[in-house]
Amino acid sequence: MQEIIQAISVAAVRIKKAIEFSDTGYSEHTNKTGDTQLKLDIASDLIIEEEFSKVPSVKTVISEEKDEAKLLHEEGRYIVGYDPLDGSSLIDVNLAVGSIFGIYENGMSGSDLICAVYVVYGPRVEMVVAWSKVTLYRLNESGKFIKIKEIKLNEKGKLNATGATQKGWAAYHKKLIDEIFADGYRLRYSGGMVPDLHQILLKGGGLFSYPSTTDALKGKLRMVFEVFPFAFVFEKAGGGAIDGKRRILELKPSHLHDTTPCFFGSNEEIKRVLNEYAKH
Ligand code: AHG
Ligand code: MN
Ligand code: MN
Repeated sequence: MQEIIQAISVAAVRIKKAIEFSDTGYSEHTNKTGDTQLKLDIASDLIIEEEFSKVPSVKTVISEEKDEAKLLHEEGRYIVGYDPLDGSSLIDVNLAVGSIFGIYENGMSGSDLICAVYVVYGPRVEMVVAWSKVTLYRLNESGKFIKIKEIKLNEKGKLNATGATQKGWAAYHKKLIDEIFADGYRLRYSGGMVPDLHQILLKGGGLFSYPSTTDALKGKLRMVFEVFPFAFVFEKAGGGAIDGKRRILELKPSHLHDTTPCFFGSNEEIKRVLNEYAKH
């Protein structure tokens, strides 16, 4: 596992450089979800694949930017699912973006996940590794990730990050979100799940939601590359992750690019969602 985390660290430094200095325009390609890919989405995907191709324990990689899984080492043990550049449409406005990794064994269901890592490219580059614990690292001047601290969520937080277009929300979802705000929670939403979830994790807790909407019944965020890894991080940090009714890590995708509604948060907020959603 250490060599996989090391490969991610090397890829992160390369991606940060690409974000800072290379072309931020769109390519002529779309990915499996139908998003037009930025040149940087494609470049980041290639950087990560290149670094994993040097790690014999990585059997297969599957990325948000690849239509199919790709075999790297026949004898390898792990499957790595990743979103090379999450929030890439925020690059042109110079907001923080990220990379998300799920390290799976045997299959690509939530229960096959054994480690999750994400990198935030903000004013500083930080990496969070969830294994038995959740640890925050920060890139230093010499290009090394230095351990900063362990991340633990409080039982209850103060932030509310509300995703998806409100006109597509179910009435009961709107009621739940309105009640949370009425209790004094503050809105925090940049439109990049990596910095938005990172903020909730580091500020002690709160709720991030990306629900089912009338035009996207299964939400927008992809299980294998985005939702499972963050569910793993939130559970290991002492919080929870659900689709409204079930634990995210009990879900099984039928296709690699499947999406699911999702809620990540500290325990009080997750209980609150479960109670409200159980009525519908
Ligand atoms: P990506 O850039 O990999 O396609 O993902 C963007 C995602 C996620 O980061 C964010 O939480 C969500 O899209 C925002 O969507 P809305 O603008 O619909 O809230
Ligand atoms: Mn993404
Ligand atoms: Mn992406």
